[in-house]
Amino acid sequence: MIGKILRRLIFIVIIALFIAIVSLLVSTQITGTNQFEVIRTAVEHVINPKTEGTAKEVKPIEVEYTDNSLLTLQNSATFTLKTKTELKPSENTKYEFFLSQKPNQDNPFYWYVVKVNNIGVGDFNQKIRLEDVNTAAGDINISGSRQAFNLPFGLSEIGDWENFSYTADGDSLLALVDKQNKLPLDYAPKNLVDVNKDLLLYTNSSEPILITTEAGDALRLMAKDAQTQLSKNLVIASGYRSYNDQYKTYASWVRQLGQEEADKVSARPGFSEHQLGTVVDFVDEETGFDLTNDFENGALGRWLIDNAYKYGYVQSYPTNKETETGYLHEAWHWRYVGIENAKQHKESGLTLNQWLNQKRSS
Ligand code: DAL
Ligand code: ZN
Repeated sequence: MIGKILRRLIFIVIIALFIAIVSLLVSTQITGTNQFEVIRTAVEHVINPKTEGTAKEVKPIEVEYTDNSLLTLQNSATFTLKTKTELKPSENTKYEFFLSQKPNQDNPFYWYVVKVNNIGVGDFNQKIRLEDVNTAAGDINISGSRQAFNLPFGLSEIGDWENFSYTADGDSLLALVDKQNKLPLDYAPKNLVDVNKDLLLYTNSSEPILITTEAGDALRLMAKDAQTQLSKNLVIASGYRSYNDQYKTYASWVRQLGQEEADKVSARPGFSEHQLGTVVDFVDEETGFDLTNDFENGALGRWLIDNAYKYGYVQSYPTNKETETGYLHEAWHWRYVGIENAKQHKESGLTLNQWLNQKRSS
């Protein structure tokens, strides 16, 4: 009995196998392809899209980076990088990217500031990997040197102001530099001239005082007209200060006044308009060539308040505007922004940093 059932079962299995093989052969014949082959090819396309002509072109990232030698006094250094490609943020703790400006009608670039961290005293070399959101990549090398510098007692580093942004385009006459907007270490104006030797103006510093050619031409005209009208000479006490010069200047104020008071009269490195090369501090004989607000009570100081805008100069830290500007009044500190901008600024009644902020967001 059991033998009979087993024989029937074997017979059914053989018939079922026969039907399956025949139908497989028939369907292969109909489609003209091998079904297993179709599945294998599909998987291959998913893994390797390049075979279907959908591969993205791998291009190196083009960057504009000129100054590849950063001299710094602190344990970090920043430089500007311009690229037509949007970069992926860095996951490397040695360097960080900060987006400063997206491309716009006037400027086709992404402007980044790259901050290199943990720089020890002496020479340094750093390879920086750039990657975009697609497949482009590139490396740039930066090198430089950190000099030893003794900070005032109690200060181990000069920290940044909180929540600041980077102003990478210092060449713009409308560059905003205040306690919320910082220039990178490597920003230095091009075309600087010597106020005394090239412009033949009075200075009271043993070091050369520098200013951009454009701001210098306007300054020369302004000083000449003031002299003609008042028979008094404007004397220039300071002009362009590099990031590192400002580092030393600020440290010296902290040494004299302590940090809280220093922050009211001196900018931290990167946060000074003097780094733009379009700023001068004036003194005069009447006030003993001192940087003092008494300057605006004299003929030259009053004349500047009434006339400087006609030459493109603006006072950055007016009286009673400490909350807006972040600094005590400085009657001596004037910045060149161009004649049209200076006129518009005067009409606005705003402080320069408020006006530049408004201009940027309009
Ligand atoms: N005294 C101004 C704020 C400066 O240091 O730039
Ligand atoms: Zn100044």
